Amino acid sequence: MKGIILAGGSGTRLYPLTRSISKQILPVYDKPMIYYPLSVLMLANIREVLIISTPRDIHCFKALLGDGSELGMSFEYAVQEEPNGLAEAFIIGEDFVGQSNAALILGDNIFYGSNLSNTLLEASRIESGGVIFGCPVRDPRAYGVVEIDENHKALSIEEKPEFPKSSLAVPGLYFFDNQVFEIAKNVKPSERGEKEITSVIDVYLKQGNLHVEVTGRGLAWLDTGTHESLNNAANFVEAVQKRQGLYIACIEEIAFRKGYITKQQLLDLAKPLLKTEYGQYMVEVAHSVYEKEIITA
Ligand code: TTP
Repeated sequence: MKGIILAGGSGTRLYPLTRSISKQILPVYDKPMIYYPLSVLMLANIREVLIISTPRDIHCFKALLGDGSELGMSFEYAVQEEPNGLAEAFIIGEDFVGQSNAALILGDNIFYGSNLSNTLLEASRIESGGVIFGCPVRDPRAYGVVEIDENHKALSIEEKPEFPKSSLAVPGLYFFDNQVFEIAKNVKPSERGEKEITSVIDVYLKQGNLHVEVTGRGLAWLDTGTHESLNNAANFVEAVQKRQGLYIACIEEIAFRKGYITKQQLLDLAKPLLKTEYGQYMVEVAHSVYEKEIITA
């Protein structure tokens, strides 16, 4: 399976922060926002990733992440000329993904919780159809909302409904088989002029080929689209890291624990960061043979 991070958009709800810089480059506590979705793809064992952003911002991501080889990964880059909707990622990403299945994650979504790795690995093993997630939220009206029956079978999906049929919001993480490219091409733009991901999901739902993984209390899903939610996400990351001494979305740590890079490579990556707790943490991880055995995610 190959991965796509969609990190474009206009970020108007974060103005003036995003007047001249991408939302997904902004810090969430101690690291750029895009580290969080990237870490999710890495935890799903996805090593080939396409990063899509705007003509203005794409060079920032290239400067930050390079070709991925330092992490034992492979990164490519593509431009979305206009924010024409999430489903456009599958039109832009078709050649990159080729014959594989595809995972799409939005550049401003943060996931953290127990058993996340296993959930991701399972979703990435789909042979056909699609997997989306359903996360309970207090007010789902700002999101895609999925309605399910008692067997977790999806009954309906609606984009930003005024009267939601359930409290399950669909976060920005989707796993699809290779049909998704044809489906995305045939999706008509919505009234707001975007190729909606919910329209793609609806095709899988109508085929009876959609699995909804309902997440429980153990998974935190945060988005970072407003000043308040961005600040809340930063506070959450700080609290967890300080309390547990385990980092959220340390991509170098994941690369090391997955065996993509050696201890020496991890130490080399830490060198320019040693003035920061982030860099010191990488050194600790490199030396923590015992913990490597017991902590997998
Ligand atoms: P949104 O938060 O819906 O939109 P936005 O980032 O443009 O922000 P705002 O509403 O403040 O103007 O986008 C969700 C994520 O998807 C975000 O990471 C940006 C990305 N995105 C694209 O890359 N291309 C698109 O066409 C759209 C609609 C979103």
